[in-house]
Amino acid sequence: METIVRPATAEDIPELRALIQASVNHLQATDYTESQRQFALGGIFGVDPLMIEDRTYFVAVSDSRISASGGWSRRATPFGSDSSPARDDRMLDPQHNAAKIRALFVHPSFARHGLGSLILNTCEAAAKAAGFRRTELTATLTGVKLFRVRGYEPVEEILLPLSNGENLPVIRMTKQLPAMDTAH
Ligand SMILES: CC(C)(COP(=O)(O)OP(=O)(O)OC[C@H]1O[C@@H](n2cnc3c(N)ncnc32)[C@H](O)[C@@H]1OP(=O)(O)O)[C@@H](O)C(=O)NCCC(=O)NCCS
Repeated sequence: METIVRPATAEDIPELRALIQASVNHLQATDYTESQRQFALGGIFGVDPLMIEDRTYFVAVSDSRISASGGWSRRATPFGSDSSPARDDRMLDPQHNAAKIRALFVHPSFARHGLGSLILNTCEAAAKAAGFRRTELTATLTGVKLFRVRGYEPVEEILLPLSNGENLPVIRMTKQLPAMDTAH
């Protein structure tokens, strides 16, 4: 399987929405109930076109189809789509704030093939190149399994309220990015 990573474009949005829905419904099924997943889709789990405009959202393309997506952001919004309940478009300061890692979704047909790690590496490298020293994310219980092995430490457990009265448990996690190589 040949995979390339490229910035997402507005034309990708319909395929991204389908990928996110499939990812949530299949890969999160052991961690969240059906109703938690359905009420989180759209606002908490969805596409943020501003990240595409910022050119900080990436897709992995395997055999001509989008197999995974995810991004990083220098904006304060911690998670979610353009209708995220936590929307905050302010710009972060790389000297003092952690860059956000957001909306990492792998298509179920491509799970456990290293694509989540590939997108995460791409995001961390881009955030570091933009001057950030730390990254931070709001992890699903599914994502925690990946992020722990990628060096993320849990900071806080959060219950995100859903519009049906239920909650979605998630975990805020952070990582210190390795220092720049100054050997040459
Ligand atoms: C979380 C997610 C992005 C992981 O993507 P992935 O491409 O399957 O992850 P990788 O193949 O890069 O996994 C790397 C390592 O992380 C760990 N890991 C990842 N998923 C795991 C799981 N479900 N169970 C246990 N360990 C897991 C393993 O150590 C794995 O290495 P291994 O496969 O050699 O054992 C994917 O499951 C997903 O899209 N989930 C649904 C959407 C979601 O909740 N996203 C997170 C938003 S914060």
